[in-house]
Amino acid sequence: MTAAEAFDATDDLSDAVSPFRYADGRLHADEVPLARIADAVGTPVYVYSASGMRANYRALATALDGLDVTICYAVKANSNLAVIRALAAAGAGADVVSGGEIRRALQAGVPPDRTVFSSVGKTEEELRLAVQAGLCQINVESAAELEMLSTVAVSMGVQARVAIRVNPDVDAGTHDKITTGIRGNKFGIEIEAAPAVYRRAAALPGIAPVGVAVHIGSQLMDLLPFRVAYTMVADLVRHLRSEGLQIDRIDLGGGIGIPYHRDESPADLARYAAIVRETVGDLGCRLFVEPGRLLTGPAGVLLSRVLFVKHGDGRDFVILDAAMNDLLRPAMYDAWHTILPVTEPSAGAALRPFDVVGPVCETADTFAKERLMTAPGDGDLLAFGNAGAYGAVMSSTYNTRPLVPEVLVDGSEFAVVRKRPTFEEMVALEAIPPWLAAAD
Ligand code: LLP
Repeated sequence: MTAAEAFDATDDLSDAVSPFRYADGRLHADEVPLARIADAVGTPVYVYSASGMRANYRALATALDGLDVTICYAVKANSNLAVIRALAAAGAGADVVSGGEIRRALQAGVPPDRTVFSSVGKTEEELRLAVQAGLCQINVESAAELEMLSTVAVSMGVQARVAIRVNPDVDAGTHDKITTGIRGNKFGIEIEAAPAVYRRAAALPGIAPVGVAVHIGSQLMDLLPFRVAYTMVADLVRHLRSEGLQIDRIDLGGGIGIPYHRDESPADLARYAAIVRETVGDLGCRLFVEPGRLLTGPAGVLLSRVLFVKHGDGRDFVILDAAMNDLLRPAMYDAWHTILPVTEPSAGAALRPFDVVGPVCETADTFAKERLMTAPGDGDLLAFGNAGAYGAVMSSTYNTRPLVPEVLVDGSEFAVVRKRPTFEEMVALEAIPPWLAAAD
C-alpha cells in the first residue's frame, strides 16, 4: 500500500461527505487547517465540524422523509452544549439519560417536547426533573421504575407519558460491551413480559402508557437485527392495541454504525428507512429514533502531537501527547481509529509499522499496534478519525491530565467550545481536611 492509498482522507474518514480533507497538503476541518487550531489551542484537542454534523443529520432526515418521525440526538455521544445546539438548530430533538443531560439539552435549546428520557436507572430526582421540564416521553425500563414514576407524577399532579423499553432478545452483532438487546442484558423488560407491565402501567395513577421503545445496541454494521427487532415491536403494538391500550408511539432507539476502518462501508440509510417503513410504518404511530454516533462520530477528530518516536526492541513507538484518558475507545473496546498525518505525505512515501501510544503508565494506553504509517517526526501532528462520538464524553483526568479541550469549526470559523482546565481548576473541588492541613 502506498501513502496515497493509506491516507486518502475522504476515503478513510467515512466517505465523500467527510468534513476532513487535505487541501494544499494540509488536513482541514471544513476550511480551517487543523495545524492552525493546534497552534491556537494546543494539543491534544478534539475538533468537530458543525457542517459535518448537520450533513449527517440531514442524510438521516432525508432518508426518513415522509414518516412521522422525531430524530432525537443521543446526547451521550457528544454532549458539548455547542454540539447539541448545532444539531438542535438543524431540527434534532434529544435523547437524554441523566439529570445532567436533561439540563444540557434544555440549556442548548432543545424543545422539551422533542426530548425523550432513557436510562436503566433513573433516580426519583431525575424523574421529577423530567416531568417538571415537560419532556415528551420517559422510557421506563422496569416495573419498579414505573411505580416510582407513578408516585412522582401523582405528587406533581400530572400524567407522565411513558414508553416501556422492551428487550427483544435480538443479537445486534456488535462488541459485547455495547450490545444491549439480548437476554441477560440489564436493559428493558423481556418482550414476553411486556403486556403484563403495560396492563399495570394503564392501571397506575399518573401514568399514560403511550409507546413502546427498543434499543438493541450500538455500532450496528448489519441492518438485519433492526428488522427483526422492529418487527417484534410492531407485533407487540398490535397485541397491546388488541387489549385496548392506546399505543401511538414507537421509539426505535439508536445504534446505526459508522465505518471506522477502510474495509467497512457506511450504513445504507435508505435501506434503514425502508426497514422502518416496512416494519412499523403502517401503524400510524409517532416514531422516534435516537442516533448518536451516526451524527457526530464522523464529524470529529482528536488532534495530537508526536512527542517522540522511540525505537524499541523490534518495534517502533510513536509516543503522543494524547492518551487513553483522552480517547478511551481503543483501550476499552479494542476500537480502530484511523490515524492521519496532518501534513499530507507524498504519494510514494514508504509505510512502516508503528505502535501508537500515549504517555499514561499502563500498557492499555495503546491506540494502535503495528499500524502502517509514514514515519512521523517529533512534533508532527496526527489526527484520529471518527472521534466525534464517545470521545471527549468518555475522557477523564487520569494521571492528572487536564480534560481535553474541544473546538467547533463551522466553515471558515472556529471556536473553543470547552477550554482546557488549568491545574488550579482541576483541583478546585478537592480539599485537604483540617486535621491533615494542621500537621505542619
Ligand atoms: N439510545 C439508547 C437507549 C442508547 O443506550 C444509546 C447508546 C443510543 C441511543 C445511541 O446509540 P448510537 O446511535 O450512538 O449507537 N461508548 C460506546 C457506545 C455506547 C453506546 C451506549 N448507548 C462506544 O464508544 O462505542
